[in-house]
Amino acid sequence: MLVIITDDYAELSREAARIIANAMRKKPDLRLGLATGDTQQGMYGELVRMHREAGLDFSRVVTFNLDEYIGLPAGHPQSFRSAMRKSLFDHVSIPVSHIHIPDGTLHGTPRNNFDEVCEQYEAEIRRAGGIDLQIVGIGKDGHIGFNEPTSSLASRTRPKTLMQQTIEDNRHNFPPGEEPPAVAITMGIGTILEARRILLLASGTAKAKAVALAVEGPLTASVSASALQMHRDVTALVDREAAANLQHKDYYRKALEMARKLTPGRLW
Ligand code: F6R
Repeated sequence: MLVIITDDYAELSREAARIIANAMRKKPDLRLGLATGDTQQGMYGELVRMHREAGLDFSRVVTFNLDEYIGLPAGHPQSFRSAMRKSLFDHVSIPVSHIHIPDGTLHGTPRNNFDEVCEQYEAEIRRAGGIDLQIVGIGKDGHIGFNEPTSSLASRTRPKTLMQQTIEDNRHNFPPGEEPPAVAITMGIGTILEARRILLLASGTAKAKAVALAVEGPLTASVSASALQMHRDVTALVDREAAANLQHKDYYRKALEMARKLTPGRLW
């Protein structure tokens, strides 16, 4: 895993957007996997700015979001679909037909229907030729997507019950008095690991413990993000605060310098 430590959130956002923009320039029909956390907001802001100011072209890009809440009606302002429109899709040249987000609106219907939704989502990813670059965030409990601790490391897209910690972390996005959803559809860890490249973003001290476990801890279903250690092409882009508990920071800096010299093509 290549670990890049930035000074702060602003630099992390710029760097993430630069990596995505480079991938889009290399492959204009990039299959891009997206996440909907607070962490990605700065990155989306940068991408919108690059679209406006430098003509960064989204017209051939195809996107797949990691997850969506189950039970919010279509168009609910706190759904990930709405959040993605607000932060990215409404401001760039991506055709609506190129956007894929799991459909979590079938509230109250038998689980069978969700099985179908999930299978279709996997089939759409396959039909698109797989994901070239998947962006992931990380939860305090080490989740990626909404793969909570003890998720199978081979899991596929499916409905997943959220841990209370995750529900509380999501609460600030909802108006007072409105209960955040307790279930979501998420790509599985197995699905995420099939992406050709993965970019993990983490910012702030609240993520420091999870980042250290994911990058330097043992491979375990108790920390879903540790499964990224199994992937051959992961970049962890973390700010100084999120990197605080990493043991080998000096080594990561040296390794990055060396990679920049020896294999510049690998660095996006
Ligand atoms: C969102 C997602 C989640 C978040 C994670 C961190 O699509 O898949 O794994 O990335 O919960 O969220 P923030 O960035 O809000 O701390």
